[in-house]
Order: sequence, then C-alpha cells, then structure tokens
Amino acid sequence: MPGPTPRPVAYLDHGATSWPKPQQVVDAVVRALTDLGGNPGRGAYAMALDASRAIFEARRTCAELLGVPDSRDLLFQPGCTAGCNLMLKGVLKPGDRVVVGSMEHNAVARPLEHLARLGVEVVVVNADSTGLVDPDDVERQVRAAPARAVVCQHASNLTGTVQLIGDLADIAHEHGALMLVDGAQGAGHLDIDISALGADAYATSGHKGMLGPQGVGLLYLAPDLDAQTQIEGGTGGGGSESPDMPPERPDRYEAGTANTPGVVGLGAAAAFVAAEGPEQRRREAELTRRLHEGILEIEGFHVLGPPPGVPRVPIVSAVHDRVDADRIAFALDRTYGIAARAGLHCAPWAHRTIGTIDCGAIRFGVGWSNSEEHVELALRALQEIVSS
Ligand SMILES: Cc1ncc(COP(=O)(O)O)c(C=O)c1O
Repeated sequence: MPGPTPRPVAYLDHGATSWPKPQQVVDAVVRALTDLGGNPGRGAYAMALDASRAIFEARRTCAELLGVPDSRDLLFQPGCTAGCNLMLKGVLKPGDRVVVGSMEHNAVARPLEHLARLGVEVVVVNADSTGLVDPDDVERQVRAAPARAVVCQHASNLTGTVQLIGDLADIAHEHGALMLVDGAQGAGHLDIDISALGADAYATSGHKGMLGPQGVGLLYLAPDLDAQTQIEGGTGGGGSESPDMPPERPDRYEAGTANTPGVVGLGAAAAFVAAEGPEQRRREAELTRRLHEGILEIEGFHVLGPPPGVPRVPIVSAVHDRVDADRIAFALDRTYGIAARAGLHCAPWAHRTIGTIDCGAIRFGVGWSNSEEHVELALRALQEIVSS
C-alpha cells in the first residue's frame, strides 16, 4: 500500500478547484452519506423524503446566494461543463449565429466547435491584451447580422479578467439575442446577482469559488428560456408512464438519481459563502494583489491580464523570459510543497488571445484558505527557482 499523499504546504490552485473545503461542507457530505441515503423523489419513506427536503433546501440556499428569484430555475448539474453544454446545445440550432468572446474555456469552446460543425455560425470577438472583451466589438457583430446569442465567461481562468457582463447583456437584449454566461470563475469570488446581471443562462461550478464538493455545479435558465433537454431518463415524482420528460423545472433537466452528497455539500458551501463572502473576497483581493505585485518585482516575470489595481478574480498567471512554466510548477511542488498549475489550463482560445499558446503559463489561484505566509512562500520560491 502506498503511503498517504503529502498535502501541499501552500495550496494555490483554487482556480482549478478549492481545497480544503470548509468543515461545514465536509460535515454535510458525511451527513448525506450516513443519514440521507434514500433516493430523493423515488420513495415515500422517511429517509427518501428527507433527502428530497435536503435537496430542496440546498437549491433554495444557492438561489438566494446567486440572486435567482425562483429556485426551480436553478438546476443542479454535474459541473459547469455540463451546464455549459446544456445552455449551448439546448438553445442553439443549425442556422443560428452566435457571438462569443475569445477568452472562453474549453467548456464553451468545444461545444461551440461541435455546434459549428452542425451548422451554427460562431463569430469570435477578440479580447484585448488584458483579456477584456470590448462590448463595442460585440455590438458591431450583433448589429452586422442577427444573432441568437452572445456568449461570454464572467471571468477568465487564465488572466482573472472580469468581463462586463451587464453591458454585454444589454447589447444582446437590444438586438434580440440571448446572453449566455460561463460563470465558473465568478461564483463565490464575485458578488453575483444573476437577475441584475441580465443573464438568460448562467452556468457555474460548485467546487471552485463556491467551495462545494467536486461533481456538482449549477445552471440558471431564465423562466422563459426553453432549452432542449440533453439527457432524458427517470425523474421521480410521478408521471413515469409518459415517454417524455416532464415540463416542470427542475425535474425536466435533472434526469437520473441526484448527487445527494454533492448537492447537500454545495448547499452547505453556499451558506458558508453567504456568511463569510464579503470578508473572504476582501482577503482574497488583498492576497492576490500582493502576489501580483510581488511577481512583477522578480526579474524576467510578466503577469498576464489586467494591471494591479484593476479588479480581477483571484487568479494570477505569469510567464518568465528564461524558465518555462512546467519547470516552475515542478520545482514549486517538489522543492517547496506549493500546488500551482502550469500549461494551457483547458483554455487554448485564451492563451492564443494573450500570446502564450506556445509556452503556456504558471497559474496561481488564491482562495479562502490562503494566508500571507502562503503568498510570501510562493514569491520566495519563484525568486529562487528563476535565480538557480
Ligand atoms: C472558465 C471555466 N469554465 C468552465 C470550467 C469547467 O468547470 P467544471 O470543472 O465545473 O466542469 C472551468 C474549470 O476550470 C473554467 O475555469
């Protein structure tokens, strides 16, 4: 038997997934596994009913946190990738035209490449050198020809750039298009009110800034948005004799046995973020700024994205003139016990936009569990790695 995996001294990969999880989340998952073992919606005995209630509560807590007026419009999905697939493939049809920013993660880029092969016209609007998609450029495209949707991430998983979703949504709606958002890097790190943002669909992860377990995410669909289901199957709650999925939400989009431990864990995480969020975001911003400025002080490093002082989610990616990103990540892990991610971060469109497609970057994702010591350790380590 191999020994236990050593835990990092400084975990700085919250952009990939948050770790550790708040104790409340761990406790909720354990409770779901031990006490809520019935199949929610599939039985009238006490343990199945309790599981249904716990899922109902978790949905309501997440909806309150994200500004969704009717929690039935907030769907549990296996992750942001699944949510993006449903919001894109369920809405776009061959012959439609879609305008999308060039910083998208593969969770959006690959479904769109797939849809393009089926006859959807995909118009990519280039972001600027800081990763920002200029709403004027999007407007020019939606004015040029009718578009079914504008698609944009809320924040970049490469540069941390926060996109102007409210402006993009106004432009989309003025021209009769939908606003579809990948919020994987937004939820938890930004104060989000989906209704006020004007998004017609907003997909997000449960396991990143939301601090929930892996394997669960959320998709908001506006009440009047009729997306085609991508998965059909059992839904519980009666009506099993029908060959079709029920029209009601959330059942229509949640076929199959629910991920009760994941959903209940996410509900506890949303409650934690609701209580701690403002203080947590202030600390994350402070640590991110220190990391950003500290890296800029080390000779040969260039930080991607907006300059210090411009709002960003807590992600700092950098390239060095001489030392490649993979070598830096390897040394950070093996010599210093620092977890950070090198490479293309599942975002080749973004790396192409920023000019790092050939070299990749070293990415630090700051989160709720980080301290000043973690940041100072990372800065000392980077200095030593590139000096040796
Ligand atoms: C911007 C962005 N979109 C989508 C995803 C995919 O999220 P999930 O892992 O929840 O499927 C990620 C994950 O890194 C991301 O950063």
